[in-house]
Amino acid sequence: MCETCRGKYYITTPIYYPSAKLHIGHSYCTVATDAMARYKRLQGYDVLFLTGTDEHGQKIEDKAREAGVTPQQYVDNIVIGEGGVLDLWKLMNISYDRFIRTTDDYHVAAIQKIFKKMYDNGDIYKGTYKGKYCKPCESFWTESQLVDGKCPDCGREVQDAEEEAYFFRLSKYAGRVRDLLVNTDYLEPRSRVNEMVNNFIDPGLEDLCVSRTSFTWGVPVDFDPGHVVYVWIDALFNYMTALGFENDKYHDLDKFWPADVHFVGKEIVRFHSIIWPAMLMSLNLPLPKKVYGHGWLNFNGEKMSKSRGNVVDPYVLAQRFGVDALRFFLLRTFPFGSDGNFTNELLISTINTDLANDLGNLVSRTVAMAQKYFGEKLPLTQTADPEKDAELIAMASALRGKYETQMEAFAFQNALSEIFKVISRANKYIDENTPWVLAKTEEGKPRLARVLYNLLETIRICGGLLSPFMPDTAAQIARRLGGAAMDWDSLGRFGVLSADAATVAGAPLFPRIDVEKELSALEELSKPAAPQEDPLPEKLPEIAFDDFARVEMTVVKVLTCEKVKKSEKLLKFTLNDGTKEPRTILSGIAKYYEPEQLVGKTLVAVTNLAPRKMMGQLSCGMLLSAERGDKLHLVMLDDGVPAGSRLV
Ligand code: MSP
Repeated sequence: MCETCRGKYYITTPIYYPSAKLHIGHSYCTVATDAMARYKRLQGYDVLFLTGTDEHGQKIEDKAREAGVTPQQYVDNIVIGEGGVLDLWKLMNISYDRFIRTTDDYHVAAIQKIFKKMYDNGDIYKGTYKGKYCKPCESFWTESQLVDGKCPDCGREVQDAEEEAYFFRLSKYAGRVRDLLVNTDYLEPRSRVNEMVNNFIDPGLEDLCVSRTSFTWGVPVDFDPGHVVYVWIDALFNYMTALGFENDKYHDLDKFWPADVHFVGKEIVRFHSIIWPAMLMSLNLPLPKKVYGHGWLNFNGEKMSKSRGNVVDPYVLAQRFGVDALRFFLLRTFPFGSDGNFTNELLISTINTDLANDLGNLVSRTVAMAQKYFGEKLPLTQTADPEKDAELIAMASALRGKYETQMEAFAFQNALSEIFKVISRANKYIDENTPWVLAKTEEGKPRLARVLYNLLETIRICGGLLSPFMPDTAAQIARRLGGAAMDWDSLGRFGVLSADAATVAGAPLFPRIDVEKELSALEELSKPAAPQEDPLPEKLPEIAFDDFARVEMTVVKVLTCEKVKKSEKLLKFTLNDGTKEPRTILSGIAKYYEPEQLVGKTLVAVTNLAPRKMMGQLSCGMLLSAERGDKLHLVMLDDGVPAGSRLV
């Protein structure tokens, strides 16, 4: 441990499923964790902030198959590919110290050892699983856990499933886990404890299926080929393998375990507050100090998903509003423990009110006045006026303490409210002290210098305490105050700024947004892109009527139609063309029609084309079809038109 550090602090986010690109809801937890990690660093803690990706499971295997790539290629694209998870965290200025992928070799090998240990100690045993399975959640459920016959987590359909599987003796730990939840503050907010106890523990904890044989994209059980370990043991133990548990890649376990806090979304609280401690108990390992289950961000009242378009795309939002404004909005607007409703109106009004009006104006006005009236240096001769300055100074001096209380409770919204109370007070202080009037007379100048100093000092404290939320803005504020000190100690004291500090003017920190204009721009962005019309085919050169008249086009009826073996493209037709002998035509349209759709249909064929061999079979003619882009329609006539009729 370093001499000057206040101690260690280990904080984690859930590791994300790279089954699709992330939306702004996913950034919520990571931004909150980042703010907490930065706050702890600011306080002087030696912080390890872990995030990563949870890359195994059937969902990934299925998606990769659909995309025609290997599961590893699939996850690589979403995690390390352009615009992927790593890029997103870079964009959002996420200061993680370590990133774990559950496909990392060291993690896979460690999971195999952990599985074997639990098998050897008797907490993992082999059995047969019969139950209801929710594929998207990769969860087995008992009948009694279903809600209206559907998955209790996501509300989707479940399927009957039965297979040989390994089980973890979760039931054995029910009493100890219940005790942990009820009698300690392991899980917060407290409301989540009741949910876990009433909905899961008290109805009876069943043993947990921890291996599968029906897919392969997981961690192989090395002593029983065919079984793979997925989500439970694989994902949860990331918090420890990333420190070096059962591997030699890292050596931070003694220093950082147990975790100080796991931040998790509310739907995975069950995994972290029941399954995770039970597994740790099984291996006699120390439990994390706390799990905090935050709420969900909905979008206009509905569940957020990337399919809602650009408006929930963090790249689009960051480009339009700036990363700091977006980070600020997420934590200023919604209480962390509850659900929140993200709307564009709220986003814009928060930026306009708090950032452009209150914070931005305070900084611009104060710095501009300091420069205009005094240039580089404030001639500080007067002391503070007890009557006029006491309240502002008291508020700014007490701010760090109030902020700390809220931050320690993960009440980010309240911590920010405390800062903005001081910012509002400072704006009011300008109006009360009318610096522009003081500036008019020489006698007013000493007082004016003191007023501006008090303002700059208040800005320094507020800016520094905002740094975990808006790191770039805080750095910008420090620059404007001439490189003001923003370390933890200085943020707890009023009067640190030197009167010599050379203020630096600059563009508004947050330009005001035109609400109507921005809302309609966002509205436009949220519209699905108009389908692109396929270009018209190129025009052909003119031909003489005689040339056209030489083409024999005949009405034909489909007698039989079947796929041609070993060919993905061809359908083989036998057709009644009005003659006694059926005509055979092969046509490359298998991708557009199922053979049974076409039997009995009345089509048009060119019947005087020279016969052609295709896949070893003779095709006598060609069926007419209309093509545009990647669509194709056979020319079909009314069934009343007799076979053998000629098209003229
Ligand atoms: N892979 C698991 C976690 C395993 S941790 C050992 C998982 N991944 S996830 O990608 O589906 O979700 C990651 C986190 O994003 C979860 O905490 C989830 O709650 C959070 N969110 C996803 N959508 C969200 C919102 N719309 N709002 C807030 N958080 C959301 O779960």
